Amino acid sequence: MNCLERVFIELIINSDQHTKLIIDQNQLSTCLRYLGLSFQNFNHFLANIKAFYNMSSHDILILYASQTGTAKYVAEELERQLILREFKTLLQSMDDYAITNLPEENYVIFVVSTTGQGEPPSNMINFWQFLLIKDLPNDALEDVKFTVFGLGDSNYQQFNSMARKLYQRMLQLGAKIFHERGLGDDQHPFGYDGELDSWTEKLFESLKNIFPNKQYENLEEKIKQKPQPRYQIELIKENMYEEQAQQKIQENYKLIPTPQGCKKNQMIVSRVVENELLTPADYDRETRKIEFEFDSNDQTSYNPGDILVIHPENSHQLCKDLADHLNLSLSQIVRITKNEKSLQQFKNPFPEYITIEQLFKQWLSISTPPTRYLFKLMSYFTNDELHNEKLIEISSKEGKEEYYNYVVKEKRNVFEILFDFGTVQIPLEYLIEGLSLQKPREYSISSSQLSNKNRVSITIGLVKYQTPFKRSIVGVCSQYLKQIELKQQKVIAWIKKGTMEMPFNDPTIPVILVGPGTGIAPFMSLVEQRNILIERQQLTQEQYSNKTFILFGCRYKQKEFYYQKFLEELHELNRINLFTAFSRDFDSKVYVQHLLTKHYEVFGDLIANNFEKIKIFVCGTAKYMPKQVEEGFVELLTKYLEGDSEKAKAIIQNLIKKRQYVVEAW
Ligand SMILES: Cc1cc2nc3c(=O)[nH]c(=O)nc-3n(C[C@H](O)[C@H](O)[C@H](O)COP(=O)(O)OP(=O)(O)OC[C@H]3O[C@@H](n4cnc5c(N)ncnc54)[C@H](O)[C@@H]3O)c2cc1C
Ligand SMILES: Cc1cc2nc3c(=O)[nH]c(=O)nc-3n(C[C@H](O)[C@H](O)[C@H](O)COP(=O)(O)O)c2cc1C
Repeated sequence: MNCLERVFIELIINSDQHTKLIIDQNQLSTCLRYLGLSFQNFNHFLANIKAFYNMSSHDILILYASQTGTAKYVAEELERQLILREFKTLLQSMDDYAITNLPEENYVIFVVSTTGQGEPPSNMINFWQFLLIKDLPNDALEDVKFTVFGLGDSNYQQFNSMARKLYQRMLQLGAKIFHERGLGDDQHPFGYDGELDSWTEKLFESLKNIFPNKQYENLEEKIKQKPQPRYQIELIKENMYEEQAQQKIQENYKLIPTPQGCKKNQMIVSRVVENELLTPADYDRETRKIEFEFDSNDQTSYNPGDILVIHPENSHQLCKDLADHLNLSLSQIVRITKNEKSLQQFKNPFPEYITIEQLFKQWLSISTPPTRYLFKLMSYFTNDELHNEKLIEISSKEGKEEYYNYVVKEKRNVFEILFDFGTVQIPLEYLIEGLSLQKPREYSISSSQLSNKNRVSITIGLVKYQTPFKRSIVGVCSQYLKQIELKQQKVIAWIKKGTMEMPFNDPTIPVILVGPGTGIAPFMSLVEQRNILIERQQLTQEQYSNKTFILFGCRYKQKEFYYQKFLEELHELNRINLFTAFSRDFDSKVYVQHLLTKHYEVFGDLIANNFEKIKIFVCGTAKYMPKQVEEGFVELLTKYLEGDSEKAKAIIQNLIKKRQYVVEAW
């Protein structure tokens, strides 16, 4: 075989990686010239060759779309299950996959979550836009067999809408179902596992008919053998590590994975310059205004409606406890590389050299409950029979109640679990295999950059609660921000577009802003911006008054009316119209939606007279509020239209469709 032939065979075998190949561009060009092919028809050519020689490198393609990592974990777990049964798999995020290859796939499993208000996760946007192209023929995917598992939350109005839409669209394009669709629900007592376990069991029944030669029975012996970890870890001795490389380690933060929907080159390094408590010190809820300053040469820009995405750090104490438990020092440098023996294809997210402190503080999610897979991995590293049995039980589908009660509901973290199972001595490469990466958290921006170009502020509610066994838990990111040292620590963040496209340049466009609790956060940004623009553009009272309507609600006026002074001053100046509801100050509970019906003439006139340009934004907690507010709008219009509820509903639906009515809830 000559060199060119070898390259060529490699090209075909690795063509699932598309053109991200292990050979260089010159070799590829030579190859193509040799074959008289252009890049454009190269893919098609490869697909034909593969089909002819039956060389497909995988039996099943698994594509996931995940905003915060859950669907990714589910897809990885499915891949592990398939590999155990001797399937050849390819697992990729939808946007990493070369979608033009899709018509040539045989079997595809989609694992897809829904985010926003029924929207696709960021790593599905391009894939989804492609599938929606109008002139795709309805037999475009006729050779593809597929199934879908959705991850969602029935508290949201658009429950699992992306899994449903994807399923329908695949059918429209001619693809066939090889296994029924499954829809996981966060509200199930066992979360998405409530649906996933039985769906997976039936999936293997379906696959048995299609791939009878794979291994479905007698897996016990195989399960007993430790899987190959995906990473190899080498402890680096201090004297083996040069000073220059030490410098590189200091800059590891630059390699922190870019959150979904953000741009890699737009990482912001900032410091907290203000951390103001907005609630009374003795109140059981804690809300803070946190202000950050960018490095002075930073070109960051943002607008009202944008989101600050923060990469939190785990507490120093927890990192220390975990390191001590594993007999590691926080300053220990380790080298993390891919284990070539692993059967899974994946991207190594870690810097090659990293300290244990960085690994635990910034890279791994060690404060939140680990997945069931960690228990499986732990079971390989104990000689204690009881512990081994218990760990296997918790990791199995039969033990999911135990997993939920002991881990999920009690929010046990990895250190607490390792402490409870003290006989387990898990090597670091297996530990990181069983943990998720640290998740970024999103915050609506509360400031206007017109007031200070180097600063951005957010309004955060500290997450704190007790578990059923009265363990006190605090939220990872809100606690991190609460305790951060002023002007000292670097905070890593990004800015991304939110779902609310606010008319931030024109204070004369009418807006209704419904923001109970911390839902007020993004509206403070718009209000501040409009206030500055009113001055700068020297607008007359006639131009700016009755344009910015704010509906704010909380429990007690004295305790939670954040930004009261600023909002009331603007109201006095007719720059905003402020409506408030304090649910616990009076006997009858009043919420923001009640303000709509109470002032139905004001809001009815506003909507009726500005139908083409009005914007309505609703922001805050996801549970019941968005639905109740939408019902409030329908009710106010029904009253305004003297009982015509059908017309009222149609008006709101039309505004939603035209994105003039947008909800951002979390
Ligand atoms: C687009 C967007 C904008 C947002 N804007 C803001 C904002 O402006 N201000 C703001 O404060 N937040 C905002 N959030 C929410 C924010 O991103 C975080 O989710 C929030 O701060 C919690 O993060 P944490 O790390 O502190 O808590 P985590 O450690 O992530 O813990 C939160 C988890 O704890 C659990 N939990 C919480 N309370 C309880 C309870 N009582 N019982 C049992 N379990 C519980 C839930 O599982 C919850 O998911 C926004 C979210 C999105 C998506
Ligand atoms: C900001 C936000 C918006 C969400 N929107 C929806 C939604 O519209 N419909 C739904 O069914 N689930 C919704 N969910 C729930 C997620 O789909 C669910 O928690 C899922 O497990 C997340 O998977 P992921 O981590 O892979 O993104 C939302 C969750 C969040 C945090």
